[in-house]
Amino acid sequence: MADRYLHLTGTAPGRFLTRRLGLPQPAPLRRWTLRTPSLDGPLLHLTAGASAIRDELAKVLATTGPTADAQAARPAGIVLDATAVTSARGLAEVHAALHPVVRSLAPGGRIVVLGTPPSSEDHHQAAAQQALEGFVRSLGKEIGRGATAQLLRIPDGGTPAAAESTLRFLLSPRSAYVSGQVIELTTAAPGSVTDRDAPLTGRTALVTGAARGIGASVASVLARDGAHVIALDVPRAQDDLVRTADRLGATALPLDITAPDAAARIAAAVPDGLDVLVHNAGITRDRRLANMPADRWAQVIEVNLDSVLRTTDELLTSGALNRGGRIVATASIAGIAGNDGQTNYAASKAGVIGLVRSLGPRAAAVHGVTVNAVAPGFIETKMTAAVPFLIREAGRRMNSLSQGGLPVDVAEAVAWFAGPDSGAVNGQVLRVCGQSLLGA
Ligand SMILES: NC(=O)c1ccc[n+]([C@@H]2O[C@H](COP(=O)([O-])OP(=O)(O)OC[C@H]3O[C@@H](n4cnc5c(N)ncnc54)[C@H](O)[C@@H]3O)[C@@H](O)[C@H]2O)c1
Repeated sequence: MADRYLHLTGTAPGRFLTRRLGLPQPAPLRRWTLRTPSLDGPLLHLTAGASAIRDELAKVLATTGPTADAQAARPAGIVLDATAVTSARGLAEVHAALHPVVRSLAPGGRIVVLGTPPSSEDHHQAAAQQALEGFVRSLGKEIGRGATAQLLRIPDGGTPAAAESTLRFLLSPRSAYVSGQVIELTTAAPGSVTDRDAPLTGRTALVTGAARGIGASVASVLARDGAHVIALDVPRAQDDLVRTADRLGATALPLDITAPDAAARIAAAVPDGLDVLVHNAGITRDRRLANMPADRWAQVIEVNLDSVLRTTDELLTSGALNRGGRIVATASIAGIAGNDGQTNYAASKAGVIGLVRSLGPRAAAVHGVTVNAVAPGFIETKMTAAVPFLIREAGRRMNSLSQGGLPVDVAEAVAWFAGPDSGAVNGQVLRVCGQSLLGA
C-alpha cells in the first residue's frame, strides 16, 4: 500500500508544511539497483586508539564498494575502528573521531563502528565496548536523512577478512532499512565467493511462503544473486506461486510446510542437496489471550515455529542440507517487544530467536551450516495493509527512518546471511525495522 505521507514530504510544499508542524521527515531511501549498486560517495576510515587490525581492515574496506578517501569532504560511509577502546577514557577517542565528521555524512550515508565483544573477565573493557552499543543506537536515532549506524563486533581471534561480507552489506544500499543494530561475528572461517555479482551461483535455495509478500521478494533476490530457487507455498496459493516461480526461472513446490512429510518432499526435490533454507512462511491469528481459542493458538505455533523446528531437524540430520549451507529463519520485532493481541504470534517468533541462538553454534560445528534470523519491523505487505489506519501510521513512523520498509529490505538481509562468504555470521538475529522504537 502506497505511503502517501512519504510522497507528500517528497514535495517542496509538503516538506515546508510538515516541517512547520514539527512532523516526521522521512527521507526517501536509496535501495540497490543494477545501475546504482553502491553508495554514491567515498568512505572515511577512522581509528580510535592503537588498533591492531588497522592495515588489514583497510585492505578489506578496499573491496567493499565505496572508495576510501581520508580527505573526503562528504563521505557516504564512515567506518570507525573502535576495537582498541578498552577503557572509559578511551571513549573520548570515539567522540574525537566522529564529532568533526558526522555532520558531513551524505544523505543515505552509513556509519559502521567496529568493536569487540564485551569481556566477561575485564569489566573496564566490557564497559567501554558495551558503551559503543548505546552510542551507536543513539547515533542511529539522531543522524536523520536516511542515514544508518551499526555496531559490528569482531571477536578475539577473528579477523577483518571475516567481516568482509558484512561490511559489504552494511556499506551498501542493500541495508537501507537496517539501523541501530549490533552484529557479532564468530571466529569461523568466512568462506569465499568467486563472482561477487552472483555469489549464489551453483547454489540451490528453498524459500517457504514464496508466493507473495516478503517470500516472493526473497526468492527474487536470491535468484538475482545466482541461486536456483525452489519456491514453496501452500497448494491453494499455486497460481501466484507458479507466476512467481516462472518470472524467476525458479521451481514451484506447492506444499503445506506443516505436512508430516514436508521435509521428505523437500529433500526429494533437491537431489544434489540444499544450500540455503529460508523459513519465511508465517501466519497471524490475532486475538487477546482471554479471547483466544486453542485452535488459533495452535495454528500459529504450528506454522511459525513447530514446522520450522521439524523441517530444520529433519533436513539437517538427513544430510539434505549441504555442508557450507545456510539456514535463515524469520522472526519479528513482535517476538522481541511483544504486541497487544499477538501472544501466539510473538511466542512463535520469540521461539524462532531461541532456535537460532541455540542451534547456530552446534549446526556450524556438526554440519558446517550457519543459522540466523531476520526480525522484520513494519514492512509494506498485504499483511500490514490490512492493519487499521491509525495503527498502520504509527507502525510506519515509529522508527528512526520514519517509514515502513519494503519486502526487498528483508530479502537483502536474507541474501547477506545466505552468502557463501558469510560463514562467520552465525546465531544472529538482525532486525530489519528502521530502528523501530518497539523492543528497542
Ligand atoms: N509484513 C510484515 O510487516 C512482517 C513483520 C514481521 C515479520 N513478518 C514475517 O515475515 C514472513 C512473511 O510475511 P509476509 O508479510 O510476506 O506475509 P504474507 O501473508 O504476505 O505471506 C506469507 C506466505 O506464507 C504462506 N504460508 C502460510 N502458511 C503456510 C504453510 N503452512 N505452508 C507454506 N506456506 C505457507 C502464505 O500462503 C503466504 O504466501 C512471515 O513469517 C511473517 O510473520 C512480516
